[in-house]
Amino acid sequence: MSKTITGFSKLTKDEKINWLANNFFKESEKGVSILKQYENQDEKLQQLHDEFIENTISNFYIPYAVAPNFIINGKPYAIPMAIEESSVVAAASLVAKFWSTRGGFKTKVISTIKVGQVHFMYEGYFETLQKYFQKNKDKLIKATESITENMRKRGGGIVDIELRDKTARLENYYQLHVTFETADSMGANFINSCLEAIAKEFKNNTSADLKPDINIVMSILSNYVPECLVRAEVSCKVEDFFDVNPEIYAQKFVQAIQIANIEPYRAVTHNKGIMNGIDAVVLATGNDFRAIAAGAHAYAAKSGTYKSLTNAKIEDGIFYFWIEIPLSLGTVGGLTKLHPLAKLSLEILQNPSAEELMQIIAVAGLSQNFAALKALTTTGIQQGHMKMHLMNILNQLEANLHEKEIIVKKLKGKTVTHNAVADALHQLRIKK
Ligand code: MEV
Repeated sequence: MSKTITGFSKLTKDEKINWLANNFFKESEKGVSILKQYENQDEKLQQLHDEFIENTISNFYIPYAVAPNFIINGKPYAIPMAIEESSVVAAASLVAKFWSTRGGFKTKVISTIKVGQVHFMYEGYFETLQKYFQKNKDKLIKATESITENMRKRGGGIVDIELRDKTARLENYYQLHVTFETADSMGANFINSCLEAIAKEFKNNTSADLKPDINIVMSILSNYVPECLVRAEVSCKVEDFFDVNPEIYAQKFVQAIQIANIEPYRAVTHNKGIMNGIDAVVLATGNDFRAIAAGAHAYAAKSGTYKSLTNAKIEDGIFYFWIEIPLSLGTVGGLTKLHPLAKLSLEILQNPSAEELMQIIAVAGLSQNFAALKALTTTGIQQGHMKMHLMNILNQLEANLHEKEIIVKKLKGKTVTHNAVADALHQLRIKK
């Protein structure tokens, strides 16, 4: 028995599972049966999932839900969400309903530019390099023509290539900073292929007539996309903000954002709540939530201080609340049409373009922040969370439907702890 192995990827799925069972599972039969339980019985579907990544041994499910009643620019949407955290979907649904009676969400795409960079070192004079770059810029674009042909037909392609001098920060370091439009695809593969072709052309040409030679370090897209930006907002009369003391609560809401703008400890949690909504829809539509999260957090720190991604103000008796966030998304390519549930999510969203999807997902983020701040500045967050937490504990204790109903009623308004729930269940079962 060994806890390390060579050639693991060459084993069949069963052999991989056996190796794990023999070396890592406490109860090997139980472990194997859990893995098998999560296998899909439809062999074709399972094979599709197996082939998304390497060394697949099963599937890891998270719940897939829908939050209905969003009105965005006058159009109704039901938003699909894939997320394991309780309360997020409930919050989204409540907020959707709240704003649907107050004019709904207004959104707009500000820009859709994506970025990729060829990072390289050059030990000569910048002016020489610049001259060389200007002379050969067209050739660099030409070198990508076969890759960009289809994208150009769809209205995308390379927007510009810039030579950037970064030597003030790192000796001899320069970039080709390339901007792209990628139509309805997120464009990661497209961008990376273009960059590698550009780097190759740049290097090959330079070896002939640029001295000293350049040294390419790497070519890769950037997940920082501050020019792929979307805005979503809501507004209402302050008096419609809350049933009791609306002025006070609207003011507290604005203060909560002011706090997040000057206090990074708060801002990170504040933005995490926004990402609860954003990532859930990003994942449900087969997009890359790690890229989205990295780009959003970098944008939150663009001023040099990590700040809130949302903003709010009260002006002339009107409460305004909005988000501006970079979202690089696709509705074609990647998993979007390959994963059957991702495809279905897009169908639920009425097959949006990438720009429409940016707007829908910005709304999902704004909604989560609205729900969180409204709860935090009024009742506190635990009231809603504990309801779902109670359900999780009841499931852990294997309570049946009838038992759940009775205990939810019994613990209403009380502090939910594991012990309190276990006790209540125990008492109920004894009574029977
Ligand atoms: C929990 O997942 C998210 C919140 O903490 C967000 C916030 O505090 O704004 C509730």
